Amino acid sequence: EKGGYDWFMRKEIYEQPQAVADTLLGRFDSDRRLTLDEIRISASELRTIDKVVIVACGTAYYAGLVAKYAIEHWTRIPCEVEIASEFRYRDPIVTSRTLVVTISQSGETADTLMAVRYAREQGAKVIAICNTNGSTIPRESDAVIYTHAGPEIGVASTKGFLTQVTACYLLGLFLAQERGTKFGDEVATVMAEMETMPAKIQEVLDGTDALLALARDLHQTESVLFLGRHAGYPVALEGALKLKEIAYLHAEGFPAGELKHGPIALVEEGIPVFVVVPPQGRDQLHDKVISNIQEVRARGAHTIVLAEEGDEEVRPYADRLISLPRASTLLQPLLATVPLQIFACEVATLLGHDVDQPRNLAKSVTVE
Ligand code: M6R
Repeated sequence: EKGGYDWFMRKEIYEQPQAVADTLLGRFDSDRRLTLDEIRISASELRTIDKVVIVACGTAYYAGLVAKYAIEHWTRIPCEVEIASEFRYRDPIVTSRTLVVTISQSGETADTLMAVRYAREQGAKVIAICNTNGSTIPRESDAVIYTHAGPEIGVASTKGFLTQVTACYLLGLFLAQERGTKFGDEVATVMAEMETMPAKIQEVLDGTDALLALARDLHQTESVLFLGRHAGYPVALEGALKLKEIAYLHAEGFPAGELKHGPIALVEEGIPVFVVVPPQGRDQLHDKVISNIQEVRARGAHTIVLAEEGDEEVRPYADRLISLPRASTLLQPLLATVPLQIFACEVATLLGHDVDQPRNLAKSVTVE
């Protein structure tokens, strides 16, 4: 049932183009307006919302962090993202005007479920983004947007993450459309770009040889750092989590702008540092990240740079360059995450670990 792959995780990584395409399927009506009938919240109710709170754990939380950039940009509604186990043990400000969005692949994560119950008690509307039909979190929520990833067996979430980001983006675009924000007219343009993503993810998957070589060179390392900015920052966190959970390596993700505030002290000769570089030509983000690469390289880091194809500016600072198909800043996480998943899978395989069932972890965390 692994379809010729050594691990479910690897199979699931390669299923991502299809999973994202399936999550996007059938979202337009005949006027090319986005439809999201399953959220069953009227346009007038959606207009009363004054805050979005995304609650999730682990990789699903990182999907939420990516989504925050898009949702705030498109809707201008403040969006907070919180780890479910933190959210539920304080007294978060949730009212009937808050839209609470939970993200959970399994739909059974205990802390996320408790957050749903708390939010509904406060009178908030709760939308679940979930991959498992009939699971508890969607059953207890007001509405659900299903990610159509198909079963995810590997403990390390891969296609779960990409489809969660996709579903969050659909929600963000729908909110913009229904609330008639300034951005409303651009919804169709973003959707058109979203529809190109499955083919671009496939392109990333078709070019993995360099990553396998990279894993062979680096699997004996003790520690790996990941840097990103903006939507690339949660990608860095996700890349680090993948390495921790299946390769048992010390790995940390940082916002690249935080380097000088502490993390740069970790940089020593030869340490691998992955850097997610945003597309060129948008504000100063790209150039800022290039300076960050120079900073770590000057201190001996071995830089593995993920940047869009044709980005010649990064080349002199990249010990290894992983090219990504072109995409806008907000959609780039759907591409940049994939090489990091493959790298982690490969390192864990080379180290002889059970990639699908890493030690100490369960696929769904139904206890606190
Ligand atoms: O089923 P959920 O999406 O609620 O699970 C949340 C986390 O437990 C999960 O994403 C975990 O972090 C993964 N093992 C990461 O790969």
